[in-house]
Amino acid sequence: MALSTHDKGRVSIEHGEEGKSCEKMTLCVPGQTKTSNAKELTQEDLDKLGSERALVSDFKQMKLEKDAQKNWDLFYKRNTTNFFKDRHWTTREFEELKAFREFESQRLVLLEAGCGVGNCIFPLLEEDLTIFVYACDFSPRAVEFVKQNPLYCPERCCAFQCDLTKDDLIENVPKESVDVVTLIFVLSAVHPNKMTQVLENISRVLKPGGIVLFRDYGLHDHAMLRFKSGSKLGENFYVRQDGTRSYFFSREFLAQLFEEAGFQSVTNDYVLRETVNKKEGLCVPRVFLQSKFTKPAQTHS
Ligand SMILES: C[S@@+](CC[C@H](N)C(=O)[O-])C[C@H]1O[C@@H](n2cnc3c(N)ncnc32)[C@H](O)[C@@H]1O
Repeated sequence: MALSTHDKGRVSIEHGEEGKSCEKMTLCVPGQTKTSNAKELTQEDLDKLGSERALVSDFKQMKLEKDAQKNWDLFYKRNTTNFFKDRHWTTREFEELKAFREFESQRLVLLEAGCGVGNCIFPLLEEDLTIFVYACDFSPRAVEFVKQNPLYCPERCCAFQCDLTKDDLIENVPKESVDVVTLIFVLSAVHPNKMTQVLENISRVLKPGGIVLFRDYGLHDHAMLRFKSGSKLGENFYVRQDGTRSYFFSREFLAQLFEEAGFQSVTNDYVLRETVNKKEGLCVPRVFLQSKFTKPAQTHS
């Protein structure tokens, strides 16, 4: 898909959760707030959301689903490794990445599902020498970028291509062998009808008692309110200019999704923070959903 310069600007804002090409979004107010309440909307926001009733046609929706992998692969062709910032916040936000071991020398086994070019895994591999990381993505280009990273080494990392909605993870990861799964800004890219398949797939490789660490777009995030008319695919589900899609999660929807796939909720909160879009000179309110879900330990009767 060829994009004009204007389109590219829009796409970087639409993708710009913590994307570095979003003209260096920086924190405007120190820190962030965690809350169980959805962000309240202004009358202007309510009017905008209420006026968007027309959905993208079924034909176009089917094509977007068919082309999902291709559109993400083209995203990495255009942006290479230059779009998302390395995620150095993961050990701060998720202490399980450090403290999940029963004993000091135990090797933590992690699966980063939908790894992109590795912005989540490489800071972890750098920080923790005993971690082993499985990393998968359905974009072949993204997986190749991971393998080309100087920090990639097969003794500590195994990257492979996998469509989480249809390829069984067990082909690359032993059953019930993973301590922690990270799902960072990935489930939002999956059609809501297929999210359960992703969670069931992950569950098969997660140890009983293991945990899923989740962070993604929250309901009423700035990016959701900015979509132009003609971008709406369904309730809280939108398509960007580049053909990639984004769902905006309420905590109730996410909890139900995980619980139906057999997980138990540990924490599930909105994260509110403000970022500055330097290009536009705007301070924008971001809403993410940050959550943890465990796979129950086996009970013996
Ligand atoms: C916003 S990026 C996040 C990448 C990474 N988790 C990070 O934190 O930087 C979303 C990623 O999900 C991948 N993805 C989307 N749908 C997928 C699917 N069905 N199976 C595997 N990967 C998928 C995309 O290719 C993309 O690399």
